[in-house]
Amino acid sequence: MSILIKGGLVVTAAGSYNADVLVDGEKIKTMGLGLDYRADEVVDAAGKYVLPGVIDPHTHLAMPFMGTFSQDDFETGTIAAACGGTTCVVDFDLQQEGESLGDAIERKKGVAAGKAVLDYSFHPAVLDPRPEIIDEIKKAVQEYGTPSFKIFMYYGFRVDDYTMIRLLEETKKYGGLVQVHAENFDIIRRNDEIFEKEGKLSPWYHGQAHAVIAEEEAIERACRMVEYTGSRIYIVHLSSAEGLWKVKKARDRGVEIYAETCPQYLTLDDECYNEADWQGAKYVMSPPLRPKAGIGELWTGLAGGDLQTVATDHCPFDFKGRKDMNGKEDYKKIPNGAPGIETLLMLLHSEGVVKGRISLERMVEVLSTNTARMFGLKDKGAIAPGKDADIVIFDPKQKFTLTQEKLHMNVDYTPWEGWEMSGAPAVVYSRGKRVAEWSGDRVKFVGEVGHGRFVKREPFEGHYL
Ligand code: URP
Ligand code: ZN
Ligand code: ZN
Repeated sequence: MSILIKGGLVVTAAGSYNADVLVDGEKIKTMGLGLDYRADEVVDAAGKYVLPGVIDPHTHLAMPFMGTFSQDDFETGTIAAACGGTTCVVDFDLQQEGESLGDAIERKKGVAAGKAVLDYSFHPAVLDPRPEIIDEIKKAVQEYGTPSFKIFMYYGFRVDDYTMIRLLEETKKYGGLVQVHAENFDIIRRNDEIFEKEGKLSPWYHGQAHAVIAEEEAIERACRMVEYTGSRIYIVHLSSAEGLWKVKKARDRGVEIYAETCPQYLTLDDECYNEADWQGAKYVMSPPLRPKAGIGELWTGLAGGDLQTVATDHCPFDFKGRKDMNGKEDYKKIPNGAPGIETLLMLLHSEGVVKGRISLERMVEVLSTNTARMFGLKDKGAIAPGKDADIVIFDPKQKFTLTQEKLHMNVDYTPWEGWEMSGAPAVVYSRGKRVAEWSGDRVKFVGEVGHGRFVKREPFEGHYL
């Protein structure tokens, strides 16, 4: 099957230009002005952008967490992702007690198999760091095709500094990358105790307990471990301007540090926790939403290169039945996480590009190109000959009001209910297969359940971002 996409503006991290794009089977074959080729399908993309599919490197699909499961599985979650212009997800695979990393990967492959509509990979999360697990890093990088490893400095399953050091040492040797949830457990624990005593238990106090200083301290400590080992690190879901300063300071000292933020930290603020009737629980996530005053600095960091990627941290729980499953009395009992796998590209375009905070090219860089390089997805992340035909034809003029009812995520709310979007996907291809298209008043899924494949990723390339 061949597809000729005609007359669109091809956007790459390096620049944008008018070109036709020829897809042959699963790959982009060639590009150029006025391509004359009799393709099986010709698509008119005049007035539209031709973008590489978004790669979301931070999702939690079908994940057991805080006494429940994140609600989207690999079918509903990747359908929603496709409808938002995402064509690949790298999901967290939390090692269970006693499992090897290889076991964890095989278990999660079983969870995704036959369900995913898009390509996917996993980051093993090290929760049970036995010596043989540290020894397994080499195999995970070189054989399993999973060269990135998540660790938590927060939650009951956090790792100690020794484990962090050992993982940094091993990933340095073999071309791996440690990703860290950077929040100081004991600062939060002490704040929780104080608020408990004072009877301060509404969702607002979730944000207060997870104070900015907890993020700053953990980033600072992680950076020192990188300095000590000479390794590299990637901070997931960076939430605050103060955290970003720590990243910049460390980088200025020569520490190889990368950082991701999420749309929620770029667009929402801690006032959301004051929404009436326990609605503030919708935004209970870790790290939490921060004061409005710091948001501009995150955008500046994204535009200027201090932040390398944007991901969703998609971890959905219904407002009714899950966010209140342990009652409405104590923020500590609210499952942490929020939905966002479907809204990433639209939010970055509307709030970033349209509002002049980042360029179109930078949007492509932080949503696709950098992400592909960072996580070793060598066939993805750009519109270029030889790459997978993971393509979004994006209509910048399409108006769309975000509302849970028109989105596909398996959850009963979106944090951006009622937000007006300028621009939406017109057509989305995954390896040359049409998986989603605009239809009347929303994007519709038109792909095939089970089309998605597990992608073996390459070791980290290093020193290029
Ligand atoms: O609150 C969040 N972010 N939930 C998902 C798990 C994590 O920490 O990434
Ligand atoms: Zn996290
Ligand atoms: Zn997460």
